[in-house]
Amino acid sequence: MQALAVVPGQADLVELREVPEPPAADGALLVEALAVGICGTDREIVAGEYGEAPPGADHLVIGHESLGRVVEAPQDTGFAPGDLVVGIVRRPDPEPCANCAVGEWDMCRNGRYTERGIKGLHGFASERFRLEPGFAVRLDPGLRRTGVLMEPTTVVAKAWEHLERIGRRAAWSPRRVLVTGAGPIGLLAAMLGVQRGLDVQVLDRVENGPKPQLVADLGARYCTDLADVDTDADIVVECTGAPSLVVEVMERNAHNAVVCLTGVSALGRSVEVDVGAFNRGMVLQNDVVFGSVNANRRHYEQAAAALARADASWLERLVTRRVPLAEFRDALEHRDDDVKVVLDVEA
Ligand code: BGC
Repeated sequence: MQALAVVPGQADLVELREVPEPPAADGALLVEALAVGICGTDREIVAGEYGEAPPGADHLVIGHESLGRVVEAPQDTGFAPGDLVVGIVRRPDPEPCANCAVGEWDMCRNGRYTERGIKGLHGFASERFRLEPGFAVRLDPGLRRTGVLMEPTTVVAKAWEHLERIGRRAAWSPRRVLVTGAGPIGLLAAMLGVQRGLDVQVLDRVENGPKPQLVADLGARYCTDLADVDTDADIVVECTGAPSLVVEVMERNAHNAVVCLTGVSALGRSVEVDVGAFNRGMVLQNDVVFGSVNANRRHYEQAAAALARADASWLERLVTRRVPLAEFRDALEHRDDDVKVVLDVEA
């Protein structure tokens, strides 16, 4: 079968390769791939800046935002042929650490976790893949077109869960949310804010294309200039990883604000910061800044519920390009008008 693979650590060595059928050791469920979402992490892996092949392999099949249909499922697995499923990305470290031991692999303490399509395990950009039933999540059949948005939704579901847990350290009645970046993570983070009845602003530098209308249709406010953003956000979800913006949003928010960083920045970009003023502001205002990555099974369940509540046509509009697997180079190219680009893998 065909799979989209890279040689980790080497730039642009990405190709469709003929690979063996997925081994039974990968899991009892055999799944035919329908679609795979492309994100910044995939582009970094293709650029040779991230990613790790499975032990003993010289290549890594990429793709961690999956959507597939079960082809074979043993009876005791709770799955049946035809089920629409998404694969969980991370697997616990082998030790396991205290967090992985209780299913909180997204909080792995020793970094020895693996991730499908990213770190030490082949991904989902192949015609077929296998899943362990414990790492497969069934989706409502109505999500055939948009279920590929599940994985990025899990990432923001975790961010929101942690934001709220931190917020509850004292009396907590948040009103205003700032989301920076109107890519898929930002838009899905904004959607979860709106679903919570909060007043959401989304900041992005892009003035044209689908983003402003997508934000407006959510019932949120779109801004292209930080000067137009209210300075009293109770919650900030930073989704750009752009160093100067990261610093700005950490400084401009309400007392007791909680700032969640979700964007992975490129290395080697310095900005000058008055650390004294920064520290003073954080202490005197009880601010919290924290990072958030990945998701565990509970977050997949939260994401499935959020997608089920969302407006299906709005979700469909997040997928701005669907590209056949054979044209993967086109999908990997970032265009200004892109929100989510999806590879159509279905044979
Ligand atoms: C994925 C996460 C993963 C992270 C770091 C992100 O693109 O969505 O599941 O943990 O990359 O590898």
